[in-house]
Amino acid sequence: MHESNSSVGKARTMDKNRRELLTKAGAAGLGLLATSCAALERRSPQPVQPAVQGPAVQVLYGPTPLEEMMREHGVVNRLLLVFDELVHKIREDQKAPVGMFTNASNLVDEFVGNYHERLEEKHIFPAFRKGGRMVELVEILNMQHTRGRRIAAEAYELAGSGDPTREPQRSRLISAYRKYTFMYRAHVAREDSVLFPALWQVMDGTEMRDLEERLKEEERRQFGGGGLDKVIETVADMERELDIHYLSRLTP
Ligand SMILES: [Fe+2]
Ligand SMILES: [Fe+2]
Repeated sequence: MHESNSSVGKARTMDKNRRELLTKAGAAGLGLLATSCAALERRSPQPVQPAVQGPAVQVLYGPTPLEEMMREHGVVNRLLLVFDELVHKIREDQKAPVGMFTNASNLVDEFVGNYHERLEEKHIFPAFRKGGRMVELVEILNMQHTRGRRIAAEAYELAGSGDPTREPQRSRLISAYRKYTFMYRAHVAREDSVLFPALWQVMDGTEMRDLEERLKEEERRQFGGGGLDKVIETVADMERELDIHYLSRLTP
């Protein structure tokens, strides 16, 4: 399924600073290239032997492709918590950092819609289609990617077109964020618990190793030397501003 909704294209061109968050992360990452390379070396020297052995299982070095994708899901979940807190603040008429509505919507669109999901559509979903496994689930997940991009674009437009703490933007943003978080929590949970573990059924060890290299290359191309860590730090900054960063404080 292809993006055809005009709001998507409109949102992507309405602001020249639209990619600022990820660009900033990428630019900073160039300066941290040496640090990143050192980190890659630190995490790579010891072969990780999978617990389950079999003809398709191969020794991999560092995080497996599935671990990388699940780590990205962790970032997605933290962004969903940011959305939750923004909704909570404007529903309860609490002071909310107005600029964060735009920044959070932008980061979701860029990191989730234009990076993580593109990886799945390019490298994961085709393997299941080719293998004839879980094809119905894959098509639903693919359809939800398209829907999610439209909602994220809608949220970005709303956040940038007026005060998000006042009507009518307030109600429409709450609706957009709720639709997005509702769908994505189910989406990510299904990928983590059903689809990703089944990747071994449609890829052999060599294909998994190739996938690992492709994912690393895509990460370097997208984020520079900083890798995913820079995106995580950007999300952590948002959490600090919303006072939801310190895990112990989230204990009921
Ligand atoms: Fe997905
Ligand atoms: Fe995903």
